[in-house]
Amino acid sequence: MKANIVLLPGDGIGPEVVCEAVRVLDFVASKYNHTFKFTERLMGGCSIDKYGSSLTDETLADCQSADAVLLGAVGGPKWDDLAAKDRPERGLLALRKGLGVFANLRPVKVHPALMEWSPLKPEKLQGVDILVVRELTGGLYFGWPKGRDIKDGRERAVDTLEYYDYEIRRVVELAFKLAKGRKKKVTSVDKANVLESSRLWRQIATKVGAENKDVELDHMLVDTASMRLITDPAWMDVIVTENMFGDILTDEASVLAGSMGMLPSASLGESGLGLFEPIHGSAPDIAGKGIANPTGTILSSAMLLRHSLKLETEAAAIERAVDETITAGARTADIGGKLTTRQMADEIINRT
Ligand code: IPM
Ligand code: MG
Repeated sequence: MKANIVLLPGDGIGPEVVCEAVRVLDFVASKYNHTFKFTERLMGGCSIDKYGSSLTDETLADCQSADAVLLGAVGGPKWDDLAAKDRPERGLLALRKGLGVFANLRPVKVHPALMEWSPLKPEKLQGVDILVVRELTGGLYFGWPKGRDIKDGRERAVDTLEYYDYEIRRVVELAFKLAKGRKKKVTSVDKANVLESSRLWRQIATKVGAENKDVELDHMLVDTASMRLITDPAWMDVIVTENMFGDILTDEASVLAGSMGMLPSASLGESGLGLFEPIHGSAPDIAGKGIANPTGTILSSAMLLRHSLKLETEAAAIERAVDETITAGARTADIGGKLTTRQMADEIINRT
């Protein structure tokens, strides 16, 4: 197969980890006879520096016409000015919206050999295999009105938590569909005791549940869910939730895996085009040192093969290679080892 993949390495450690994922994809292409064409573009802080905008129209258009987009990370202290007109994160949000990727899949599995790196007791981590499906193009991140003004002589800031029925339905339906290939259990997380948007969310989730009786549905308040994730993570299968709750819960869930550097994500919409990125950030403290863990990005490239290119065998081969690499004891610094980013990727490529 032939595929066009846009690379957005971004800021901080982004370029280092994306470069290794591309080596893995190149290896897969030659082993399985595919042709992957890579086009690299700037997005985030690096794009502000060069073009004065975190995401240019041209870059968005290139991403929209690609088969898939692989992203590293954006942001860093250089662009952290709270009063700045543009921020690296704005580019990321505009990209998600512009690609229509309304569902963000964040799988959290715990490799037995990495349990000691999690702050949780190993017995709590047995059998943990969670898929968080986070709504990605609605809610507080995008609701209108948003902004600052002066009201009654006081400075005021406003964000709006807004959801339309169709935005809730499509992401909840996807969660149910994904649950059917797993343990057939969906936990819908909301704050229905307080928020109107959560009451609509719960009503629609209940309807979708009634249409999919082969899947068990639970509703859970977000505060309870945050506790349950730590006290009994093995109980969870698929979690579906709105944008902001999903942002917070996935950082919490990531510590179960021992290191954020291990975890991938896929953002999907109605079309096959997806956006794939590790869940870690730009890690400015270690950027340029060549020691970042490339595993999350390499696993994101496996999700890219599965979801956008429909290459399940190739995706599974990368995931198996990562598994074996960790079992064999290969480790970057975040999980207690000394391997460089390049060496860790080589270990994975050798087993793919
Ligand atoms: C994430 C990040 C982003 C988000 C930031 C960088 C805008 O935290 O992908 O989880 O909040 O969605
Ligand atoms: Mg986040």
